[in-house]
Amino acid sequence: MKKISDGFPKDFLFGGAFAAPQIEGGFGIDGKGISIPDCAKMIDQSNRKSHIQFSAQSIDEAIHSENNQYYPKRKGIDFYHTYPSDLKLMSEMHLRALRTSIAWTRIFPNGDEAVPNEKGLVFYDHLIQEIVDNGMQPIITICHYDMPIHLVKQYGGWTNKKLIDLYFNFAKTIIDRYHHWVKYWICFNQINLLHFESFASIGVLKENNPHYQNDCYQSLHNQFVACARVKEYVKEKYPHILIGTMLADCLAVPYTCSSDDVILTMERNRNQFFFSDVQFRGEYPSYILRYFQDNEIEFEILPQEEVLIQNNPMDFLALSYYNTSCVNSKTDGLDPAKTTPNPNGIFTPWGWGMDTENLYRNLSEYYDRYQVPLLIAESGVGLLEEPDEHLYVCDETRIQYYQGALKSVKRALEHGTKVIGFCAWSPIDIVSSGSGEMSKRYGMIYVDQDDEGKGSLKRVPKKSYYWYKEVIDSNGKNL
Ligand code: BG6
Repeated sequence: MKKISDGFPKDFLFGGAFAAPQIEGGFGIDGKGISIPDCAKMIDQSNRKSHIQFSAQSIDEAIHSENNQYYPKRKGIDFYHTYPSDLKLMSEMHLRALRTSIAWTRIFPNGDEAVPNEKGLVFYDHLIQEIVDNGMQPIITICHYDMPIHLVKQYGGWTNKKLIDLYFNFAKTIIDRYHHWVKYWICFNQINLLHFESFASIGVLKENNPHYQNDCYQSLHNQFVACARVKEYVKEKYPHILIGTMLADCLAVPYTCSSDDVILTMERNRNQFFFSDVQFRGEYPSYILRYFQDNEIEFEILPQEEVLIQNNPMDFLALSYYNTSCVNSKTDGLDPAKTTPNPNGIFTPWGWGMDTENLYRNLSEYYDRYQVPLLIAESGVGLLEEPDEHLYVCDETRIQYYQGALKSVKRALEHGTKVIGFCAWSPIDIVSSGSGEMSKRYGMIYVDQDDEGKGSLKRVPKKSYYWYKEVIDSNGKNL
């Protein structure tokens, strides 16, 4: 009888992850255009449970802003200039994989140029080569919440089917250039988070928009088509490349065992599976068509697009995992943006739970449903941290979080679930995506920079850096 092995496979990708708009900086350098994250200011820190909000006015102000305004993602952690030494530190942690994204606006500054910006391509030639030379497998997200702002202003974001061609042209350009080095490509960061991150992910504003729901689903559909086009192109030309879709793992658990909570949880989880059902099974499932019908959601699906999606399922499923929420039928409905925090959780100042046990259940659910390789594309915890006088941080809480998460992955592997890697978010402190703060620290390496972008930028490994190195060296035995 076939044996299921214990522990992590030898080639398991113990890795790290971050994204161009949260680390690179290099605003306006070498021909870079303005992207959505370049227009994001930090949240009001008196309400850390808030999230960066965009409006037509805030975008116009950002585009025309003078240098006296601080937009944290324009600086990142200055990785554009520091990447050689940062990657060296990561290779000394023995990371086997590194996930980052390519800034669309470095390659096509406005998004609709006929010819790519060679200086932007050269930057990623060097970056990707350096990742490989440092012994790490590069995993590339084609678009991580950073479309060119011009595509929002000129085309209305992803509502416009023209975006499919423009995105495809961008994806084709970078895949043609980097296919020798990069095997794993993720089309979009967290394609299912359009209700939480609608401006960042599809370029659609909610305010004063009577068509908001339809715009969201039209945009999502256009992104499904774009993914299928990338897959169709790659399978002919570069059969060694794998194209993945990515979900934020939002599978919830019932708040109580009442049948109302259990059934609502099932329905909500099914609506989360919808995204990957389309991209792996090739068609819109009937339960989501019922949801569209009940909520008067209408958008255009062309017959040739249906065929394209059907013929081009994704190769792997990338997931981000942070925590698991509950569904309480007394206060929640089918709206995915409204959840109840897990009452058993310990919470960060941003209200994010730190539970990791359910990751085992969720991985098993996804694998049982699709039988495709799973990649934890990001997982981690953002914390307030005080370094000592040597800028050293003893981040025990982060270590506990990763211990829990990796134990869940191990358990899933030991039950036959195919997980190919785990990318810690993040090997290094970065600017928070949703809050714009530096002080929401995710890294295993401390970066001496504050919320105003001030500091020496010095890098100092934290305790978790040495812990993760030991985990990797023991191939996950010493957790
Ligand atoms: C994920 C995003 O959803 O959450 C990342 O893909 C982000 O870009 C991460 O950094 C953590 O969220 P935040 O808002 O704390 O940075």
